[in-house]
Amino acid sequence: MACRRSGCYPGQMGLWDRYAVPRLIGFACAQKPVMERRRHVVPRAKGLVLELGAGGGINFPLYDPCRVTRVEGVDPSPGLLGRAREAAKAEGIDFDMREGVAEALPFDHDRFDTVLVTFTLCSVQDQMQSLAEARRVLKPGGQLLFLEHGAAPDPGPAQWQRRIEPVWKPIAGGCHLTRPIAGAIAQAGFTIAEQDQGYMRKTPKFMGWTEWGVAHI
Ligand SMILES: C[S@@+](CC[C@H](N)C(=O)[O-])C[C@H]1O[C@@H](n2cnc3c(N)ncnc32)[C@H](O)[C@@H]1O
Repeated sequence: MACRRSGCYPGQMGLWDRYAVPRLIGFACAQKPVMERRRHVVPRAKGLVLELGAGGGINFPLYDPCRVTRVEGVDPSPGLLGRAREAAKAEGIDFDMREGVAEALPFDHDRFDTVLVTFTLCSVQDQMQSLAEARRVLKPGGQLLFLEHGAAPDPGPAQWQRRIEPVWKPIAGGCHLTRPIAGAIAQAGFTIAEQDQGYMRKTPKFMGWTEWGVAHI
């Protein structure tokens, strides 16, 4: 699918983005401290679930099969989508993983019970448009589950984030280090029902600040 708006048009991906980034993401996003955080969030998904930027399907083993009926997802990376499909099959999850971007979701209004976004709002081209799309496709009463890394509240790590971000972004698939998380979700019109936050252990602080929780439309 053409995705010129996000700059993620697969036909235009360089070798680094096509081959190295999926491996890097697969490795970094499955580390123990990251998985610990995921366990706070992913098992709360229920009903028909949409994953924004499903990546390699690292969340799939953490879904509660008694609560989740089906998982649909979008991601611009064909390499990661292949991994996600394999992961969904391995878990016996009913799924549909599509090439696409969070800014332009190929789904009807009011479709999903849960939208799950983990470590993706850092990488989308347009955070506000992605959150507006998440609102559009959530059913009334549906939930946005989020777990994201972003702007650290402390001056030291925040300064390092600003310094490192320009070199980090091109090597890490467009990942920003300085984006707000819960603040952006609230600004997009969600009501945050639950929120927690903190630095991940055993992780450099410039990439370790995470915020997670539940929001409603
Ligand atoms: C750090 S990875 C996280 C993957 C997965 N959500 C996870 O938690 O393991 C960031 C993901 O965002 C995806 N991505 C980048 N731009 C995107 C966009 N505009 N819309 C949706 N996903 C995007 C990348 O392809 C990648 O899979």
